[in-house]
Amino acid sequence: MASDDSKPLAFEQIEKVQIDADKLQEGMFVCELDRPWTESPFVFQGFMLTSQKDVMRVRECCEWVYIDVKKSVRFKPGQPGNPVTPTSGEKPLFKPSFSAIAVDSPETPGKQHGFLGKVSQILKKGAASHRDKDFPLALKSSVETRVHTNKLVKSIMGEIRLGKSIDTPAAKEAVAACVDNVMMNQDAGLLLTRLRNKDEYTSEHSLNVAIISIAFGRHLGMNRKELNVVGLCGLLHDMGKMLTPLDILNKPGRLNDEEMEIMKRHPADGREILLDTREVMDTVIDTAFGHHERLNGKGYPRGIGGSEIPLYTRIVSIADVYDAITGDRIYRQGETAETALGILHRSAGNAFDESLVIKFIQTIGTYPLGTVVEMTNGEVGIVVDNNPRQRLRPKIKLLLGHDKQPCKPKIINLNTNPADSIGEPYAIKVSHRAGSFDIDLSQHIQSYIKRI
Ligand SMILES: [Fe+2]
Repeated sequence: MASDDSKPLAFEQIEKVQIDADKLQEGMFVCELDRPWTESPFVFQGFMLTSQKDVMRVRECCEWVYIDVKKSVRFKPGQPGNPVTPTSGEKPLFKPSFSAIAVDSPETPGKQHGFLGKVSQILKKGAASHRDKDFPLALKSSVETRVHTNKLVKSIMGEIRLGKSIDTPAAKEAVAACVDNVMMNQDAGLLLTRLRNKDEYTSEHSLNVAIISIAFGRHLGMNRKELNVVGLCGLLHDMGKMLTPLDILNKPGRLNDEEMEIMKRHPADGREILLDTREVMDTVIDTAFGHHERLNGKGYPRGIGGSEIPLYTRIVSIADVYDAITGDRIYRQGETAETALGILHRSAGNAFDESLVIKFIQTIGTYPLGTVVEMTNGEVGIVVDNNPRQRLRPKIKLLLGHDKQPCKPKIINLNTNPADSIGEPYAIKVSHRAGSFDIDLSQHIQSYIKRI
Protein backbone atom coordinates (compact mmCIF):
# COMPACT_ATOMS: atom_id res chain seq x y z
CA MET A 1 0.00 0.00 0.00
CA ALA A 2 1.40 3.32 -0.92
CA SER A 3 -0.02 5.96 1.41
CA ASP A 4 1.67 6.49 4.77
CA ASP A 5 -1.49 6.08 6.82
CA SER A 6 -2.43 2.76 5.38
CA LYS A 7 0.32 0.32 6.15
CA PRO A 8 -1.35 -2.62 7.83
CA LEU A 9 1.42 -4.81 6.65
CA ALA A 10 4.42 -3.10 8.22
CA PHE A 11 5.34 -5.92 10.53
CA GLU A 12 7.44 -5.26 13.57
CA GLN A 13 10.08 -7.51 15.03
CA ILE A 14 9.89 -10.10 12.32
CA GLU A 15 11.89 -13.27 12.84
CA LYS A 16 12.19 -14.48 9.30
CA VAL A 17 13.72 -17.49 7.66
CA GLN A 18 14.33 -18.07 3.97
CA ILE A 19 12.71 -21.22 2.65
CA ASP A 20 12.48 -22.89 -0.76
CA ALA A 21 9.01 -22.69 -2.25
CA ASP A 22 8.77 -26.46 -2.57
CA LYS A 23 9.13 -26.74 1.21
CA LEU A 24 6.19 -24.45 1.96
CA GLN A 25 3.31 -25.79 3.98
CA GLU A 26 -0.07 -24.66 5.23
CA GLY A 27 0.21 -22.63 8.42
CA MET A 28 3.34 -20.74 7.34
CA PHE A 29 3.21 -16.97 7.17
CA VAL A 30 4.91 -15.59 4.06
CA CYS A 31 6.45 -12.17 4.78
CA GLU A 32 8.76 -11.66 1.78
CA LEU A 33 9.01 -12.96 -1.76
CA ASP A 34 12.02 -13.47 -4.01
CA ARG A 35 10.76 -10.53 -6.10
CA PRO A 36 8.98 -7.20 -5.53
CA TRP A 37 5.39 -7.59 -4.34
CA THR A 38 4.20 -5.46 -7.24
CA GLU A 39 5.55 -8.11 -9.62
CA SER A 40 3.50 -10.79 -7.90
CA PRO A 41 -0.22 -11.53 -8.10
CA PHE A 42 -0.63 -11.15 -4.36
CA VAL A 43 -2.66 -8.30 -2.93
CA PHE A 44 -1.06 -8.30 0.51
CA GLN A 45 2.56 -7.95 1.41
CA GLY A 46 2.42 -10.75 3.96
CA PHE A 47 -0.11 -13.57 4.33
CA MET A 48 -0.83 -16.94 5.91
CA LEU A 49 -0.86 -20.07 3.77
CA THR A 50 -4.22 -21.50 4.77
CA SER A 51 -4.66 -24.17 2.12
CA GLN A 52 -2.74 -26.29 -0.33
CA LYS A 53 -4.12 -23.99 -3.02
CA ASP A 54 -2.32 -21.06 -1.38
CA VAL A 55 0.90 -23.06 -1.27
CA MET A 56 0.63 -23.95 -4.96
CA ARG A 57 0.04 -20.34 -5.90
CA VAL A 58 3.23 -19.20 -4.21
CA ARG A 59 5.15 -22.04 -5.85
CA GLU A 60 3.82 -20.95 -9.22
CA CYS A 61 5.58 -17.62 -9.07
CA CYS A 62 8.43 -17.89 -6.52
CA GLU A 63 11.49 -20.07 -6.08
CA TRP A 64 11.96 -19.03 -2.47
CA VAL A 65 10.29 -16.78 0.11
CA TYR A 66 10.84 -15.62 3.67
CA ILE A 67 8.62 -17.03 6.46
CA ASP A 68 7.73 -14.99 9.52
CA VAL A 69 8.40 -17.43 12.33
CA LYS A 70 6.31 -15.62 14.94
CA LYS A 71 3.24 -15.38 12.76
CA SER A 72 3.44 -18.96 11.51
CA VAL A 73 1.38 -21.59 13.28
CA ARG A 74 3.19 -24.47 11.58
CA PHE A 75 6.90 -24.00 11.79
CA LYS A 76 9.68 -25.38 13.96
CA PRO A 77 12.61 -22.94 14.36
CA GLY A 78 15.83 -24.33 12.97
CA GLN A 79 14.04 -26.81 10.73
CA PRO A 80 12.51 -24.78 7.99
CA GLY A 81 9.93 -26.69 6.10
CA ASN A 82 9.55 -29.59 8.48
CA PRO A 83 5.97 -30.38 9.32
CA VAL A 84 5.19 -29.90 12.95
CA THR A 85 2.05 -29.51 14.96
CA PRO A 86 0.87 -25.93 15.43
CA THR A 87 3.00 -24.02 17.92
CA SER A 88 -0.08 -22.65 19.57
CA GLY A 89 -2.66 -25.13 20.75
CA GLU A 90 -6.05 -23.85 19.72
CA LYS A 91 -6.77 -21.63 16.83
CA PRO A 92 -7.89 -18.22 18.01
CA LEU A 93 -11.59 -17.51 17.48
CA PHE A 94 -12.29 -16.20 13.95
CA LYS A 95 -8.62 -16.35 13.16
CA PRO A 96 -6.99 -17.90 10.30
CA SER A 97 -8.77 -18.17 7.19
CA PHE A 98 -6.09 -15.59 6.52
CA SER A 99 -5.40 -16.46 2.95
CA ALA A 100 -4.05 -13.33 1.43
CA ILE A 101 -3.41 -14.46 -2.07
CA ALA A 102 -6.12 -12.55 -3.53
CA VAL A 103 -6.37 -11.95 -7.18
CA ASP A 104 -9.04 -14.42 -8.13
CA SER A 105 -11.23 -12.85 -10.71
CA PRO A 106 -14.93 -12.96 -9.97
CA GLU A 107 -15.34 -13.99 -13.58
CA THR A 108 -13.30 -17.15 -13.02
CA PRO A 109 -14.05 -18.37 -9.51
CA GLY A 110 -12.12 -21.31 -8.29
CA LYS A 111 -9.83 -21.69 -11.29
CA GLN A 112 -6.11 -22.05 -10.71
CA HIS A 113 -3.71 -20.15 -12.88
CA GLY A 114 -0.01 -19.78 -13.28
CA PHE A 115 -0.32 -16.08 -12.72
CA LEU A 116 2.79 -14.62 -14.26
CA GLY A 117 2.64 -16.74 -17.39
CA LYS A 118 -1.06 -16.38 -17.97
CA VAL A 119 -1.33 -12.61 -17.70
CA SER A 120 0.01 -12.24 -21.19
CA GLN A 121 -2.27 -15.00 -22.47
CA ILE A 122 -5.32 -13.28 -21.07
CA LEU A 123 -4.36 -9.99 -22.67
CA LYS A 124 -3.62 -11.65 -25.99
CA LYS A 125 -7.09 -13.17 -25.96
CA GLY A 126 -8.47 -9.66 -25.88
CA ALA A 127 -10.16 -9.91 -22.50
CA ALA A 128 -9.44 -6.27 -21.81
CA SER A 129 -10.91 -5.01 -25.08
CA HIS A 130 -14.04 -7.08 -24.50
CA ARG A 131 -14.46 -5.41 -21.15
CA ASP A 132 -13.99 -2.01 -22.79
CA LYS A 133 -16.64 -2.71 -25.44
CA ASP A 134 -19.31 -3.67 -22.90
CA PHE A 135 -18.44 -1.16 -20.26
CA PRO A 136 -20.22 2.00 -21.55
CA LEU A 137 -23.48 0.06 -21.96
CA ALA A 138 -23.21 -1.42 -18.47
CA LEU A 139 -22.39 1.99 -17.07
CA LYS A 140 -25.42 3.60 -18.72
CA SER A 141 -27.69 0.89 -17.34
CA SER A 142 -26.14 1.26 -13.87
CA VAL A 143 -26.65 5.03 -13.95
CA GLU A 144 -30.34 4.59 -14.82
CA THR A 145 -30.82 2.02 -12.05
CA ARG A 146 -29.00 4.23 -9.60
CA VAL A 147 -31.14 7.28 -10.36
CA HIS A 148 -34.35 5.24 -10.00
CA THR A 149 -33.25 3.41 -6.84
CA ASN A 150 -31.95 6.56 -5.16
CA LYS A 151 -35.37 8.19 -5.69
CA LEU A 152 -37.04 5.10 -4.26
CA VAL A 153 -34.79 5.03 -1.17
CA LYS A 154 -35.51 8.71 -0.49
CA SER A 155 -39.22 8.03 -0.90
CA ILE A 156 -39.08 5.04 1.49
CA MET A 157 -37.20 7.11 4.03
CA GLY A 158 -39.74 9.92 3.77
CA GLU A 159 -42.62 7.48 4.26
CA ILE A 160 -40.99 6.03 7.37
CA ARG A 161 -40.63 9.49 8.85
CA LEU A 162 -44.35 9.98 8.26
CA GLY A 163 -45.08 6.72 10.06
CA LYS A 164 -46.02 4.88 6.87
CA SER A 165 -44.85 1.41 5.91
CA ILE A 166 -42.14 0.45 3.45
CA ASP A 167 -43.10 -0.42 -0.13
CA THR A 168 -41.38 -3.81 0.00
CA PRO A 169 -42.25 -4.95 -3.56
CA ALA A 170 -40.77 -1.73 -4.98
CA ALA A 171 -37.63 -2.14 -2.84
CA LYS A 172 -37.23 -5.76 -4.01
CA GLU A 173 -37.67 -4.70 -7.63
CA ALA A 174 -35.01 -2.01 -7.27
CA VAL A 175 -32.61 -4.47 -5.66
CA ALA A 176 -33.23 -6.96 -8.49
CA ALA A 177 -32.20 -4.25 -10.97
CA CYS A 178 -29.03 -3.62 -8.94
CA VAL A 179 -28.28 -7.36 -9.01
CA ASP A 180 -28.72 -7.36 -12.80
CA ASN A 181 -26.28 -4.46 -13.10
CA VAL A 182 -23.66 -6.09 -10.93
CA MET A 183 -24.02 -9.36 -12.83
CA MET A 184 -23.61 -7.47 -16.11
CA ASN A 185 -20.56 -5.50 -15.02
CA GLN A 186 -19.54 -5.24 -11.40
CA ASP A 187 -16.98 -2.50 -12.03
CA ALA A 188 -19.67 -0.20 -13.45
CA GLY A 189 -21.90 -0.59 -10.38
CA LEU A 190 -19.04 -0.06 -7.96
CA LEU A 191 -17.74 2.94 -9.91
CA LEU A 192 -21.02 4.77 -9.34
CA THR A 193 -20.74 4.29 -5.59
CA ARG A 194 -17.83 6.73 -5.79
CA LEU A 195 -20.07 9.58 -6.93
CA ARG A 196 -21.14 11.37 -3.79
CA ASN A 197 -23.53 14.05 -2.81
CA LYS A 198 -22.79 15.11 0.76
CA ASP A 199 -26.37 16.34 1.22
CA GLU A 200 -27.85 12.96 0.40
CA TYR A 201 -25.50 10.88 2.50
CA THR A 202 -28.03 8.59 4.18
CA SER A 203 -29.94 7.60 1.04
CA GLU A 204 -26.80 7.24 -1.09
CA HIS A 205 -25.12 5.28 1.66
CA SER A 206 -28.02 2.80 1.76
CA LEU A 207 -27.88 2.35 -1.98
CA ASN A 208 -24.09 2.01 -1.98
CA VAL A 209 -24.16 -0.59 0.77
CA ALA A 210 -26.72 -2.55 -1.25
CA ILE A 211 -24.55 -2.50 -4.39
CA ILE A 212 -21.31 -3.22 -2.54
CA SER A 213 -22.97 -6.09 -0.64
CA ILE A 214 -24.25 -7.56 -3.91
CA ALA A 215 -20.80 -7.36 -5.50
CA PHE A 216 -19.30 -8.86 -2.35
CA GLY A 217 -21.88 -11.66 -2.29
CA ARG A 218 -21.18 -12.39 -5.94
CA HIS A 219 -17.50 -12.75 -5.16
CA LEU A 220 -18.45 -15.14 -2.35
CA GLY A 221 -20.31 -17.30 -4.87
CA MET A 222 -23.90 -16.43 -3.94
CA ASN A 223 -26.63 -17.23 -6.45
CA ARG A 224 -29.06 -14.65 -7.81
CA LYS A 225 -31.70 -15.35 -5.16
CA GLU A 226 -29.14 -14.91 -2.37
CA LEU A 227 -27.82 -11.74 -3.99
CA ASN A 228 -31.33 -10.29 -3.97
CA VAL A 229 -31.58 -10.99 -0.24
CA VAL A 230 -28.18 -9.56 0.62
CA GLY A 231 -28.95 -6.51 -1.54
CA LEU A 232 -32.21 -5.90 0.32
CA CYS A 233 -30.34 -6.32 3.61
CA GLY A 234 -27.93 -3.60 2.46
CA LEU A 235 -30.64 -1.29 1.15
CA LEU A 236 -32.69 -1.39 4.36
CA HIS A 237 -29.95 -1.78 6.97
CA ASP A 238 -30.08 1.83 8.17
CA MET A 239 -33.81 2.54 7.99
CA GLY A 240 -33.86 2.94 11.77
CA LYS A 241 -32.07 6.27 11.22
CA MET A 242 -35.36 7.66 9.99
CA LEU A 243 -36.43 7.77 13.63
CA THR A 244 -33.22 9.59 14.64
CA PRO A 245 -33.77 13.33 15.18
CA LEU A 246 -32.66 15.23 12.06
CA ASP A 247 -30.45 17.61 14.04
CA ILE A 248 -28.42 14.61 15.17
CA LEU A 249 -28.56 12.69 11.91
CA ASN A 250 -27.44 15.70 9.86
CA LYS A 251 -25.17 17.34 12.42
CA PRO A 252 -22.29 18.97 10.56
CA GLY A 253 -19.70 17.61 12.95
CA ARG A 254 -18.87 14.71 15.20
CA LEU A 255 -21.52 13.62 17.69
CA ASN A 256 -21.05 14.11 21.44
CA ASP A 257 -21.59 11.20 23.83
CA GLU A 258 -25.27 11.93 24.42
CA GLU A 259 -25.98 12.32 20.71
CA MET A 260 -24.07 9.14 20.00
CA GLU A 261 -26.24 7.21 22.41
CA ILE A 262 -29.32 8.45 20.59
CA MET A 263 -27.77 7.55 17.22
CA LYS A 264 -27.02 4.07 18.54
CA ARG A 265 -30.75 3.41 18.83
CA HIS A 266 -31.11 3.10 15.06
CA PRO A 267 -30.45 -0.68 14.80
CA ALA A 268 -33.23 -1.42 17.30
CA ASP A 269 -35.48 1.16 15.64
CA GLY A 270 -34.74 -0.43 12.27
CA ARG A 271 -35.77 -3.82 13.65
CA GLU A 272 -39.07 -2.40 14.89
CA ILE A 273 -39.78 -0.72 11.57
CA LEU A 274 -39.05 -3.87 9.60
CA LEU A 275 -41.04 -6.09 11.99
CA ASP A 276 -44.03 -3.95 11.05
CA THR A 277 -43.26 -4.26 7.34
CA ARG A 278 -44.94 -6.92 5.22
CA GLU A 279 -42.98 -9.35 3.02
CA VAL A 280 -39.61 -8.64 4.60
CA MET A 281 -37.47 -11.70 5.34
CA ASP A 282 -36.13 -12.34 8.83
CA THR A 283 -32.59 -12.03 7.42
CA VAL A 284 -33.26 -8.41 6.51
CA ILE A 285 -34.61 -7.66 9.99
CA ASP A 286 -31.63 -9.41 11.63
CA THR A 287 -29.22 -7.38 9.51
CA ALA A 288 -30.79 -4.05 10.42
CA PHE A 289 -30.65 -5.06 14.09
CA GLY A 290 -27.12 -6.49 13.96
CA HIS A 291 -25.08 -4.44 11.49
CA HIS A 292 -23.19 -2.57 14.23
CA GLU A 293 -22.38 -5.73 16.19
CA ARG A 294 -18.77 -6.89 15.98
CA LEU A 295 -17.26 -10.35 16.10
CA ASN A 296 -15.28 -9.47 19.25
CA GLY A 297 -18.50 -8.50 21.05
CA LYS A 298 -17.60 -4.80 21.15
CA GLY A 299 -20.40 -3.59 18.92
CA TYR A 300 -23.91 -2.44 19.73
CA PRO A 301 -26.77 -2.58 20.68
CA ARG A 302 -26.48 -6.08 22.21
CA GLY A 303 -22.73 -6.68 22.25
CA ILE A 304 -23.18 -10.11 20.71
CA GLY A 305 -20.27 -11.71 18.86
CA GLY A 306 -18.93 -14.67 16.96
CA SER A 307 -21.42 -17.16 15.60
CA GLU A 308 -24.28 -15.12 17.02
CA ILE A 309 -23.81 -12.74 14.09
CA PRO A 310 -25.32 -14.20 10.89
CA LEU A 311 -23.38 -14.27 7.62
CA TYR A 312 -25.57 -11.71 5.83
CA THR A 313 -25.11 -9.32 8.72
CA ARG A 314 -21.33 -9.76 8.58
CA ILE A 315 -21.32 -9.06 4.86
CA VAL A 316 -23.40 -5.90 5.15
CA SER A 317 -21.37 -4.71 8.16
CA ILE A 318 -18.15 -4.77 6.14
CA ALA A 319 -19.79 -3.03 3.16
CA ASP A 320 -21.27 -0.46 5.57
CA VAL A 321 -17.91 0.38 7.17
CA TYR A 322 -16.15 0.55 3.81
CA ASP A 323 -18.71 2.96 2.36
CA ALA A 324 -18.75 5.06 5.54
CA ILE A 325 -14.95 5.48 5.47
CA THR A 326 -14.77 6.32 1.77
CA GLY A 327 -17.81 8.62 1.75
CA ASP A 328 -17.59 12.39 2.07
CA ARG A 329 -19.39 13.88 5.05
CA ILE A 330 -20.18 17.50 5.70
CA TYR A 331 -17.41 17.60 8.30
CA ARG A 332 -14.76 15.49 6.62
CA GLN A 333 -13.62 14.16 3.27
CA GLY A 334 -13.89 10.48 2.48
CA GLU A 335 -10.74 8.36 2.56
CA THR A 336 -9.30 6.46 -0.39
CA ALA A 337 -10.30 2.85 -1.04
CA GLU A 338 -6.73 1.92 -0.20
CA THR A 339 -6.99 3.50 3.24
CA ALA A 340 -10.43 2.02 3.92
CA LEU A 341 -9.27 -1.46 2.98
CA GLY A 342 -6.21 -1.01 5.19
CA ILE A 343 -8.43 -0.08 8.14
CA LEU A 344 -10.63 -3.11 7.52
CA HIS A 345 -7.60 -5.32 7.24
CA ARG A 346 -6.31 -4.13 10.60
CA SER A 347 -9.69 -5.06 12.10
CA ALA A 348 -9.72 -8.49 10.50
CA GLY A 349 -9.87 -11.36 12.98
CA ASN A 350 -10.96 -8.91 15.64
CA ALA A 351 -13.99 -6.80 14.84
CA PHE A 352 -14.57 -8.49 11.49
CA ASP A 353 -14.38 -11.99 10.11
CA GLU A 354 -10.89 -12.31 8.70
CA SER A 355 -11.74 -14.55 5.76
CA LEU A 356 -14.57 -12.23 4.76
CA VAL A 357 -12.34 -9.17 4.93
CA ILE A 358 -9.83 -10.84 2.64
CA LYS A 359 -12.62 -11.70 0.21
CA PHE A 360 -13.92 -8.16 0.44
CA ILE A 361 -10.53 -6.74 -0.45
CA GLN A 362 -10.49 -9.05 -3.44
CA THR A 363 -13.91 -7.72 -4.44
CA ILE A 364 -12.95 -4.06 -4.30
CA GLY A 365 -9.27 -4.23 -5.32
CA THR A 366 -6.60 -1.78 -4.24
CA TYR A 367 -7.31 0.62 -7.10
CA PRO A 368 -11.03 0.47 -7.96
CA LEU A 369 -12.20 2.19 -11.11
CA GLY A 370 -12.30 5.94 -10.70
CA THR A 371 -9.45 6.06 -8.18
CA VAL A 372 -7.31 9.19 -8.53
CA VAL A 373 -3.67 8.11 -8.64
CA GLU A 374 -0.41 10.05 -8.65
CA MET A 375 2.50 8.48 -10.46
CA THR A 376 6.10 8.49 -9.21
CA ASN A 377 6.96 11.12 -11.85
CA GLY A 378 4.25 13.46 -10.51
CA GLU A 379 1.70 12.91 -13.28
CA VAL A 380 -1.90 12.36 -12.15
CA GLY A 381 -4.74 10.31 -13.61
CA ILE A 382 -7.71 8.08 -12.83
CA VAL A 383 -7.98 4.30 -12.98
CA VAL A 384 -10.13 3.37 -15.98
CA ASP A 385 -9.71 -0.40 -16.07
CA ASN A 386 -8.35 -3.17 -13.90
CA ASN A 387 -6.42 -6.19 -14.97
CA PRO A 388 -8.02 -8.98 -12.92
CA ARG A 389 -4.70 -10.84 -12.74
CA GLN A 390 -2.52 -7.87 -11.85
CA ARG A 391 -4.73 -5.56 -9.84
CA LEU A 392 -1.79 -3.47 -8.69
CA ARG A 393 -1.15 -2.65 -12.35
CA PRO A 394 -4.36 -1.03 -13.66
CA LYS A 395 -5.01 0.95 -16.81
CA ILE A 396 -4.82 4.68 -16.10
CA LYS A 397 -6.01 7.76 -17.95
CA LEU A 398 -3.42 10.46 -17.29
CA LEU A 399 -4.97 13.92 -17.01
CA LEU A 400 -2.35 16.13 -15.33
CA GLY A 401 1.34 16.52 -16.07
CA HIS A 402 4.12 16.38 -13.50
CA ASP A 403 3.46 20.07 -12.80
CA LYS A 404 -0.19 19.15 -11.98
CA GLN A 405 -1.43 21.15 -14.96
CA PRO A 406 -3.96 19.63 -17.40
CA CYS A 407 -2.31 17.73 -20.21
CA LYS A 408 -3.56 15.94 -23.30
CA PRO A 409 -5.24 12.82 -21.85
CA LYS A 410 -3.27 9.66 -22.38
CA ILE A 411 -4.13 6.10 -21.39
CA ILE A 412 -1.36 3.85 -20.08
CA ASN A 413 -1.61 0.19 -19.12
CA LEU A 414 0.78 -0.49 -16.26
CA ASN A 415 0.68 -4.15 -17.10
CA THR A 416 2.66 -3.44 -20.27
CA ASN A 417 5.42 -1.58 -18.39
CA PRO A 418 5.02 1.79 -20.21
CA ALA A 419 7.70 4.46 -19.92
CA ASP A 420 7.25 8.21 -19.48
CA SER A 421 8.71 10.99 -21.62
CA ILE A 422 12.21 10.53 -20.18
CA GLY A 423 12.16 6.75 -20.46
CA GLU A 424 11.42 6.02 -16.80
CA PRO A 425 8.87 3.26 -16.13
CA TYR A 426 5.48 4.45 -14.94
CA ALA A 427 4.52 3.38 -11.42
CA ILE A 428 1.83 4.45 -8.96
CA LYS A 429 3.18 6.51 -6.07
CA VAL A 430 -0.02 7.05 -4.12
CA SER A 431 -3.79 7.12 -4.48
CA HIS A 432 -5.74 10.26 -3.58
CA ARG A 433 -9.23 11.00 -2.31
CA ALA A 434 -12.06 11.32 -4.81
CA GLY A 435 -12.22 14.86 -6.19
CA SER A 436 -8.52 15.56 -5.59
CA PHE A 437 -6.85 17.92 -8.06
CA ASP A 438 -10.37 19.00 -9.07
CA ILE A 439 -10.76 15.86 -11.15
CA ASP A 440 -14.49 15.43 -11.76
CA LEU A 441 -15.30 11.74 -11.94
CA SER A 442 -18.86 12.31 -13.11
CA GLN A 443 -17.55 14.13 -16.18
CA HIS A 444 -15.47 11.10 -17.14
CA ILE A 445 -18.41 8.78 -16.56
CA GLN A 446 -20.48 10.92 -18.92
CA SER A 447 -17.78 10.73 -21.55
CA TYR A 448 -17.83 6.93 -21.30
CA ILE A 449 -21.60 6.80 -21.73
CA LYS A 450 -21.44 9.08 -24.78
CA ARG A 451 -19.47 6.37 -26.58
CA ILE A 452 -22.63 4.29 -26.95
FE1 LIG B 1 -25.99 1.94 10.83
